[in-house]
Order: sequence, then structure tokens, then C-alpha cells
Amino acid sequence: MDIETIKTQIDSEIQNINSSQSLEEFRVKYLGRKGIIAQLTSTIPTLPQQERAAFGKQTNALKNKIVSLIDEKQRVITTEPIQSSAGLGDITLPGITQDLGRLHPITQVIDEICAIFNRMGFSVVEGPEIETEYNNFTGLNIPLEHPSRDVFDTFYLKLGHRSKKSTQHPTPNTQHLLLRSHTSPVQIRVMKSRKPPLAVVVPGRVYRPDAVDASHSFMFHQIEGFMVDENIRFSDLKGALELFAKAVFGKDIKMRFRPHFFPFTEPSAEVDISCFICKGKGCSVCGRKGWLEILGSGMIHPNVFKHVGYDSKKYTGFAFGLGIERIAMLKFGIDDIRLFFENDLRFLKQF
Ligand code: PHE
Repeated sequence: MDIETIKTQIDSEIQNINSSQSLEEFRVKYLGRKGIIAQLTSTIPTLPQQERAAFGKQTNALKNKIVSLIDEKQRVITTEPIQSSAGLGDITLPGITQDLGRLHPITQVIDEICAIFNRMGFSVVEGPEIETEYNNFTGLNIPLEHPSRDVFDTFYLKLGHRSKKSTQHPTPNTQHLLLRSHTSPVQIRVMKSRKPPLAVVVPGRVYRPDAVDASHSFMFHQIEGFMVDENIRFSDLKGALELFAKAVFGKDIKMRFRPHFFPFTEPSAEVDISCFICKGKGCSVCGRKGWLEILGSGMIHPNVFKHVGYDSKKYTGFAFGLGIERIAMLKFGIDDIRLFFENDLRFLKQF
């Protein structure tokens, strides 16, 4: 093979090289011990005397050319971005930072509260958002004429023969389905399927046909809690709630129980904590009252035990229900409930 042909061959071969491996193969082919340059050199002694010097010179020049081509190519391969043959672009560029996901503030508060009650021995149970009228009202000793049962205060899924015009005294049909208006129906479900002793917390969504504004939403979250055993007393309720409130709002808060009425507890109480912002002096968050209402509670009504088949002479229990959004708004200083549901990342990323 003459030197000119080899030169053109080299020029075209080097162009197609784009990996260190093929460059090494190229080097061995030309500069290796049995390579083309070695072969050319070994023919020198067989040449006529007068051609040897010129041929040797040409071979040497060719060798130098190959060495510098390899050098140059080596530099290109190690510094130039690697182009994938599939046209994926420069795969050596640093990646695009992915935002880490996080839990929604409501989920964070649910998890925190459930963990607190978990440590006190409560287990976490969930119930369906579509409930029967029986579990949501009747089983909880809520009488037919109670305003919460009318169609303006509860989302009924099947009105059946109930007239849409009459909002009072609906025809009782415990099989009517509705979107639960509180988490209390899970009391009925749990007590019907288990025997005391039991201690349960129930997080979940609830629905009420309220006009949406800064403090109302047609859907929000509650946590229900209840404990049933022999000799459960009001002081047990106080103890559990105080431990909970101090864990969430700080050791320095005070608590007070205000007499209240719920059909499914007797006696009933609403629970306030001293405002942790103004320490009870009165500010805009507590409406200058110095107290913040955080939940409803009481001793489970004997009529509820009757509905689930518990002996109310043997067993007593307490129950409470709290609104998660309200707790989260107080805890994080949020003044509009709608922010939780708008999925605005500028809001959500702050938690
Ligand atoms: N279910 C009540 C509500 O939604 C709260 C509550 C629960 C009160 C348990 C007492 C006992 O307002």
C-alpha cells in the first residue's frame, strides 16, 4: 500500500472516531507493534538503496501526522459534550433540580394530632365519607327535628320521597345516604363492630352546605376521638385533651371547659385554650376574648350506647371532635380557610 493511499484512508477513518475505544483501536492499527507504520518501516531494508532515505522520511512524517491526529482527537473526545446518537442533547449537563414534594399543611396537622393520641394509646381508624342518615344522626341521638338534619345543613345524596320544599321533619329513612357532616358517625361504626375497652381517633373529611368565605368551606376536616371502658370519667377527658392541647400549642396555655349541648354527649362541653398569641390579654386572633375555641366534647350519651348495643350501666366513655383547618389556621397564623384548597404552590411551599 502506498503512503498517499494510507493518508487518505487515515483522514476518513479519524473523522468517524468518537469514542476513546475506537481511537485506541485506530492507534493500535497504525502505531501498534504490528501496525501499519511498523510494517512500512520493516520494508525499508528491502528497498533499493537510493529510495530508502526518502521512504523513511515519508514514513516518519506519516507517523507524526498520526500521532498528532490521535492527540487532537483525544482532546475532542474528553472535553466535548457527549452527544447521544438518539439526539437527546448533552447528557453531561447538570440535571434540572426537581422540587421535593411535601405534605399538605392539613395532612401535617392530622399526622401530628394522631401521633399525639397514638402515644396515649389511641388507634387511628377511618370511615367512609358517604354515610347513612342513621349513622350520621339517628344513632347519635340527634332527633328528627334537629336543624342539622334539614336539607340546608346536610348534603343528602338521595332525597327519596322527602319533599325538597319541606326542610323540617323529613320522613325518617335511616337508609338515606348523605355526605357525612361530622366524623361522629364513625363512633357508631366502631362501637357496633368492637367491644370495649377502646380508644380511637378518626381523621377525615366532612361536608356541610355552607357558603364559602374566609372561615367556611363546604368541605373541611375533623378528628374525632373517643374512649370507652368501665369507669371512664370526665377527668379522663380533661386529662387527654389537656395533654393534646399542650403538645400542639405549648405548655403555657390554659384550658377551660364551657358547658354546651350536643345530642350525643351528656354532659357536653366546648373547650377553649387561652390565646397563645396574646397570652390571654386579648388580640385580633382571639377577637379580644383571650380564649380560642378549639373543639367540642363530652361524655357519650347512654342513648348512643343503646344504639350500638353497649350496656350503659357497665360502660362509660368520652368523645370529642375538632376541626383541623381551625387548628392549622391558629397554629400557622393563616387567616383564610380557602387557601388550603386552592392548590397555590406559593402558599403550600411555606409549610
Ligand atoms: N360532632 C361534633 C361537631 O361536628 C363535635 C363533637 C364530637 C362534639 C364528639 C362532642 C363529641 O360539631
